[in-house]
Amino acid sequence: MSRTLGLCVGVAATILLLAEDLKAAAPNKLPPGFKLCPRNDPTTSSCLEEAISVALHELASGLPEFGIPTLEPLEIPQLSIGDPNSNAPVNLKINFTDIRIYNISSAKSTNVKLDVDAFLISPHVEIDSIYAEAHYKMDGRILLIPAKGEGKVVFNLTNLHGDGAMTGEKIMKKNKEYLKVNDFSFELNHLDKLVLHFENLFNGDKTLGPTINNLVNENWMEIWSQLRVPLQEICGYSFREYARRLFDKVPLDDVFLVKAP
Ligand SMILES: *[C@@H]1O[C@H](CO)[C@@H](O)[C@H](O)[C@H]1NC(C)=O
Ligand SMILES: *[C@@H]1O[C@H](CO)[C@@H](O)[C@H](O)[C@H]1NC(C)=O
Ligand SMILES: *[C@@H]1O[C@H](CO)[C@@H](O)[C@H](O)[C@H]1NC(C)=O
Repeated sequence: MSRTLGLCVGVAATILLLAEDLKAAAPNKLPPGFKLCPRNDPTTSSCLEEAISVALHELASGLPEFGIPTLEPLEIPQLSIGDPNSNAPVNLKINFTDIRIYNISSAKSTNVKLDVDAFLISPHVEIDSIYAEAHYKMDGRILLIPAKGEGKVVFNLTNLHGDGAMTGEKIMKKNKEYLKVNDFSFELNHLDKLVLHFENLFNGDKTLGPTINNLVNENWMEIWSQLRVPLQEICGYSFREYARRLFDKVPLDDVFLVKAP
C-alpha cells in the first residue's frame, strides 16, 4: 500500500470511528428496508443480487445505529496521483482533497458468485453514471505543455463496473452465529468514459485553461489508469467497514435465513 493510500485509509478510518461514537443502542436486526435471503437455496445468488442493490440504496443516508456513515455522497478526504520520476507524456501530479462521489447508492448488482460454506460472496456491480467533485492542486506536464492550477474539479464517469469479493468466517457470540468479515477486495474493471473539468487552471487563464482541459480529456485513459487503483482500494476499504459493521451486529440467521423466507 502506498504512503498516500495509507494516509487516505487512515483518515477514512477516523471518520468511520467518529460515526461509531455516535451510535445509539446496538440493533440486532437488519433495518426494515433490507432484503433477507435464504442461505442454501437455488435462488440465493439471484436473491443476493437484489439484496445488495437494495442495501446500497438503503445505505444512501447512512445507518447511524450501526455506525455506518452516509454513502451519498461517499466522502474521501484525500487522494493523490502522479509519479514525480515519470517521463510519461501525461505527467501530472495532482492532489485531490475533499472528494465527494455521488450516485454510488444507485449501483446495481447484476451477478453474485457465492460459496456459502466458505462465506465467499463476490458481487459484480454496475453503475450508469457517477458524478464527483473535489478540490485539486495540480503541477506537471501534459504532452510537453506545463499544467498548473488549484481550484474545483468535477468528474463524470460513465458506465463503471466493479467486482467485489467478501470473505468471512462463522463465529459464535452469546450462543448465536455471526459472520466475521475478514476481507473485502474490490476491483474497478470497466469504464466507458471519464470527463473531467478543472476550474481555475493558471489562475483562470482564458486560453491555457481550456487547452489543458481538452488535453486532459483527450487523454482521460491515462488519468484513469492512475486513479483507478487508489479509488478501488478506498471503495474496498469502505465496503469492508460497512459490511463489518452490519454483520457484527446482526446474527447470521437474521441475514441469511436457514430456510427460504
Ligand atoms: C445515477 O445512477 C442511475 C443508475 O445507474 C442512473 O440512471 C442515473 O442517471 C444516475 N444519476 C446521475 C445524476 O448521474
Ligand atoms: C501534494 O501533496 C504532497 C504531500 O502533502 C506535497 O508534497 C506535494 O507538493 C503536493 N503536490 C501538489 C501538486 O500540490
Ligand atoms: C457532468 O454531468 C452533469 C449531469 O449529470 C452535467 O450537468 C455536467 O455538465 C457534466 N460535466 C461535465 C464536465 O461533463
